[in-house]
Order: sequence, then structure tokens, then C-alpha cells
Amino acid sequence: MTDRYAVIGNPVAHSKSPMIHAVFAGLTLQDMTYEAILAPPDGFAATVRAFISAGGRGMNVTVPFKREACALADTRSPRAEAAKAVNTLIFSPAGIHGDNTDGLGLVADLTRNLGFQLAGKRILLLGAGGAARGVMLPLLAERPAALTLANRTADKARQLLAEFSPHAGGCTMDAGGFEGLAGRQFDLVINATAASLTDEAPPLPGGLYAPGSLAYDMVYGRETPFLTAARTQGAARLADGLGMLVEQAAESFFLWRGVRPPTAPVLAQLRGK
Ligand code: ATR
Repeated sequence: MTDRYAVIGNPVAHSKSPMIHAVFAGLTLQDMTYEAILAPPDGFAATVRAFISAGGRGMNVTVPFKREACALADTRSPRAEAAKAVNTLIFSPAGIHGDNTDGLGLVADLTRNLGFQLAGKRILLLGAGGAARGVMLPLLAERPAALTLANRTADKARQLLAEFSPHAGGCTMDAGGFEGLAGRQFDLVINATAASLTDEAPPLPGGLYAPGSLAYDMVYGRETPFLTAARTQGAARLADGLGMLVEQAAESFFLWRGVRPPTAPVLAQLRGK
């Protein structure tokens, strides 16, 4: 029987995941289907269980269910535990296993697709919600020189710092509000706030971008106000989150199928090249 997979979310109709996984399955000759499933806001667990009963082997989880998916899983990877969020569910007779591939997806996009190595770099991570939390461990694993966390609500950034400082290794970490960034410079600025979703830019002081620096927005599909501001502020390179989307999908695919799909063809297809 063909193995079934799906992305679950609300809304989910716009998801590119079915297309991405269909291309991966074709390229790696995997006998599988991948669909989009809309769950009612109060019906996440029931929808997952119905999919398992119907023979589902795994799911991707998107907004707004990543935290609920973490709670639903019987077992979790350390990175999902740290993120307190799950974007990948793996079903087996032993139960539901939860993992989080978002951070690995970001790191893979930065290092492999964009050729931007993180070791020794000064990174500024904007935001202190689920999106920021989800990428903390994989970012630190790349051994940057410094990681600064900045958030509109400064206390939430400080809380995140306290939680992750045991994993800092040799990385210098600090946290605070946006205004405290004045006079500092970074090699990489990552926007993990939800500001782009309402077409706003985080209110950042000028002069943050060091020569050769990269501005990265986790939101994809357009030049966001954050990226436009970064360009005028002197960022040498701009990137949206499309590569992160494709790379996190590839990591999920690998967890399910044990096969690593090539990501360049689907990324080129999504970019219309
Ligand atoms: P997600 O799971 O996408 O991270 P979240 O947990 O709701 O979503 O977190 C949203 C993040 O975006 C928060 O860091 C939020 O800042 P606050 O903690 O101060 O609320 C940030 N955010 C949302 N809108 C923003 C805006 N217009 N400017 C700057 N930061 C914004």
C-alpha cells in the first residue's frame, strides 16, 4: 500500500509542502502520497488520530498547531523539546514521535544554498516567539562567535537567553530590546518576528549591518519591509525564507523515508527559474 503523509494546519490550503514533497518523492522514487489537511482550531489531536487510523505514516505541522503537536507526541527529539514545538510527526506502532526540522532547515539554507558559514560570525536574531526558539539549538551548534537576541518585549528575549545559555558553548550571548542595538554591528540579521506577516518591519536602529552582511527573513515569497529596510541600511545580501521551507521539508522527508532528497530542483521550480 502507498504510504500516506500530510501537512496539517489552519489555514493550510496555501501550503507549498504537498508540491515540495511530491517533487522529492518523484526524485527519490518513493511510493508515497502527501496531502494538505485542514484541522479545526479545537480539533488538532482528533484530526491527527483520524489520519493515523486511515494509515498515515507521518505529518508536517504548521500554524497554529506546532506547540500542540509537541504536547501530543509520546516521545520527542531533544531539539523539539528545546523548541517546545514540533513540525514533524512520525507514526509507528510504538506511538507518535515529534521532531523539529525548522532550525536545521534554516542552517542548511544559510550554509549550503547561500554559502554563508556561521562559525565565528556575529548573529542578531530578532523575535522571541516560537520561530526564534525553534532555531536556537541548530544556530548555536554552528559555533557563531556571538548571538544577540532582540525582541519588542525585551524580557521575552532575556528569558530565551536564560533558557539557552547552557547550550552557548563558546558563543557570547546577550539579549534585550531593539533600542539597545544602537551602535552595534552584525554579520547576519535573522528576522524571526511575525512583523512581516502584517507588512511591518521591526523598529531597528540604523548601522547594524557590517560589510558583507546578510539579512534573512523567515517569511518567504516577497521582499518584506524588513528586507527593504536592510537593503537601505547597507546589508550586502538579502534572503527570504523559501530555502528554509524547502530544507526543513527535506529534513522531514529524510526522517520519514531515510532518503535525503536533492533540494536544488524544487527550489529552482518554486523561484520560477
Ligand atoms: P511565532 O511562533 O511566529 O514566533 P509568536 O510566538 O506569536 O509567533 O511570536 C511573534 C514574535 O514576533 C514575537 O517575538 C513578537 O514580539 P513580542 O514578543 O513583543 O510580542 C514579534 N512581533 C510581532 N509583531 C511584531 C512587530 N510588528 N514588530 C516587532 N516584533 C513583532
